[in-house]
Amino acid sequence: MKKILLASIAFAIGSCMSVTFAAGEKTLEQVHGNMWPKSVDGYVTKYQCMKCHGDYEKLGEQTSDLVPNPHKSHMGQVNCEDCHKPNLAKPVLMCNQCHNFTIKKVEPPQSKK
Ligand code: HEC
Ligand code: HEC
Ligand code: HEC
Repeated sequence: MKKILLASIAFAIGSCMSVTFAAGEKTLEQVHGNMWPKSVDGYVTKYQCMKCHGDYEKLGEQTSDLVPNPHKSHMGQVNCEDCHKPNLAKPVLMCNQCHNFTIKKVEPPQSKK
């Protein structure tokens, strides 16, 4: 019951935002629909996410153009939801509990996008 309520609130907020802001700002729960893993004991583990997205090594390669690389750091294998909140479109950098990072994209040498 509580979950359904939360989900509909998240959806309601998300729908408002998509009108107010640019398109493509879907929350992670909206992007995933019922693919978003169900919590076990109130907690979604990183392993549930890795089943579809691969491990940190793979993710670290996917975001190797980001500095600092959020998926490859001295923090090791952080729980995904520490940054990727189901009710938000953009990740929250848990690194900034200690740092003050703004993630930057380094363009590969001959990218023509
Ligand atoms: C059942 C498979 C599945 C599971 C489990 C899953 N995802 Fe996804 N995820 C997807 C698919 C499919 C997409 C969209 C495909 C794409 O364009 O990358 C996606 C997209 C994403 C994106 C990019 C969203 C965007 O706006 O581009 C992030 C971030 C993400 N997932 C994080 C997570 C996290 C964190 C978890 C665990 C809590 C998780 N996913 C669990 C299948 C899954
Ligand atoms: C330290 C914070 C942090 C953690 C922990 C984290 N991510 Fe990310 N993730 C990011 C950031 C930042 C991006 C860059 C995309 C953006 O800004 O929307 C990203 C991007 C992604 C993408 C999109 C990749 C692409 O090529 O566009 C996926 C999928 C994803 N994360 C999945 C995961 C999964 C699964 C986990 C756990 C195993 C995880 N992330 C852990 C911060 C994090
Ligand atoms: C609990 C506190 C804490 C968290 C959380 C944390 N760090 Fe750090 N980090 C440190 C400390 C302490 C150092 C070493 C002192 C220094 O060089 O600033 C450091 C150093 C670094 C450095 C090398 C020095 C620099 O500033 O360039 C990088 C890169 C870095 N961390 C990235 C990350 C990333 C990415 C995350 C998130 C995934 C993260 N850290 C999360 C405490 C933290």
